[in-house]
Amino acid sequence: MKSVAVVLAVLLAYQCLAVRPALRHQGRPGLGGSWSMSQTFKPSKVNDRDKCKFCVDFAHSAIQTIGEAIVEGGLTKGCQELCSIVANKTGSEAVGLACDGLCVLVGFDEFVHAFEKADVDPIYYCELLKQCPIVDNGDATITNLTVTPKSGPQGDFFVDVEYETKNGTGTGELLIYVDAPDGYPLGASFLKEPLDPGQYGVNFTLHAVPDPGCVAACESFQAGVYNVTMHVCNGQCMSHWPHSKIYDKKMTNFTITGPPPPDMKPWL
Ligand SMILES: *[C@@H]1O[C@H](CO)[C@@H](O)[C@H](O)[C@H]1NC(C)=O
Ligand SMILES: *[C@@H]1O[C@H](CO)[C@@H](O)[C@H](O)[C@H]1NC(C)=O
Ligand SMILES: *[C@@H]1O[C@H](CO)[C@@H](O)[C@H](O)[C@H]1NC(C)=O
Ligand SMILES: *[C@@H]1O[C@H](CO)[C@@H](O)[C@H](O)[C@H]1NC(C)=O
Ligand SMILES: *[C@@H]1O[C@H](CO)[C@@H](O)[C@H](O)[C@H]1NC(C)=O
Ligand SMILES: *[C@@H]1O[C@H](CO)[C@@H](O)[C@H](O)[C@H]1NC(C)=O
Repeated sequence: MKSVAVVLAVLLAYQCLAVRPALRHQGRPGLGGSWSMSQTFKPSKVNDRDKCKFCVDFAHSAIQTIGEAIVEGGLTKGCQELCSIVANKTGSEAVGLACDGLCVLVGFDEFVHAFEKADVDPIYYCELLKQCPIVDNGDATITNLTVTPKSGPQGDFFVDVEYETKNGTGTGELLIYVDAPDGYPLGASFLKEPLDPGQYGVNFTLHAVPDPGCVAACESFQAGVYNVTMHVCNGQCMSHWPHSKIYDKKMTNFTITGPPPPDMKPWL
C-alpha cells in the first residue's frame, strides 16, 4: 500500500513539474523530426498514469545520466544523493523526483543493479525493476500501413498503422523510421504497453516542415521519396536483451513535392 502511495505522489509531482515534451517523449533520443501520435483503436486497459509508462518515460530521459551519476560517486550514497546528481545533470527537478520515487520504491541496490544489467534499454530496465509486465509468447502482424497524402508539399503527413495480435503482446515499442533523401535520421518511438488479443490502430503525424529554430544538422524536407519503415516490437526494437523481438515490420513511402504554397506557410 505504501509503495503505491509513493508512486502516485511522485507521479503527480512529476506530471505537474514536467514540461510536456519531456513527458510525452518521442522515445529514443537521436531520432529526429517533429511527431505526434494518436490511437485510432485504443487498447482498453492502458492507463495513462500507470507505473510502466512512468518508469519508461523516466528511463528515456535519465538512463544515460544515471550511468554518469554512478561513475561520479553516486553509487555509495543511496537514492537521494544519486538522484540529486541525476537532477543536476538533466537540469530537471521532475526527473530527479521520478528517480527518487522509483529508487526508493524498488530499493537502491536493485535500481543500480538493473541499470548495469540493462545498459541503455529503458524497457528492459523497467522490466527488471518489475514496473513493466513481461509477455514472451506475444505476436503482432501489421495489417495496414498507409501514408496520407501519398504525395504533396511540405506539411503534415499522416502515417496510419493497423496491426493485429493473436496472443496479445508484451511491453514493447512502436518504432517508425524514415529514410529521407538528405540522409538525416527521422523517426520516433512510442511505448506500447501489453495488449490483449485484438486489432489496434495508431495514427502518427509527421510535421514535415523545416524547423526554423534549428541551427545545425537540420532535416530540410527537400523534395523526394521518403521511405517509411514501421516496426512493432516486444521490448525495445533491435535490442539484444531478453524479452525483445521485432514482431513485424513493413515499409511504405511518400513523396514531398516541394515547399508549401505561400498561403499555407506553417505557423511554427
Ligand atoms: C548541482 O550543480 C550545482 C551547480 O552546478 C552545484 O553547485 C551543486 O553542488 C550540484 N549539486 C549536486 C548535488 O551535485
Ligand atoms: C501463442 O502462444 C502459444 C502458447 O504459448 C504458442 O504456442 C504460439 O506459438 C503463440 N503464437 C504466436 C503467433 O506466437
Ligand atoms: C488502410 O488504412 C487506410 C487509411 O486509414 C484506409 O483507407 C484503408 O481502407 C485501410 N485498408 C485496409 C485494407 O484496411
Ligand atoms: C527508398 O527505397 C528505394 C527502393 O526500395 C531506394 O531505391 C531508395 O534509395 C530509398 N530512398 C531512400 C531515401 O532511402
Ligand atoms: C490521422 O490523424 C489526423 C489528425 O488527428 C487526422 O486529421 C487524419 O484524418 C487521421 N488519418 C487517418 C488516416 O486516420
Ligand atoms: C513506394 O511504394 C510503392 C508501394 O507502396 C512501390 O510500388 C514503389 O516502388 C515505392 N517507391 C520507391 C521509390 O521505393
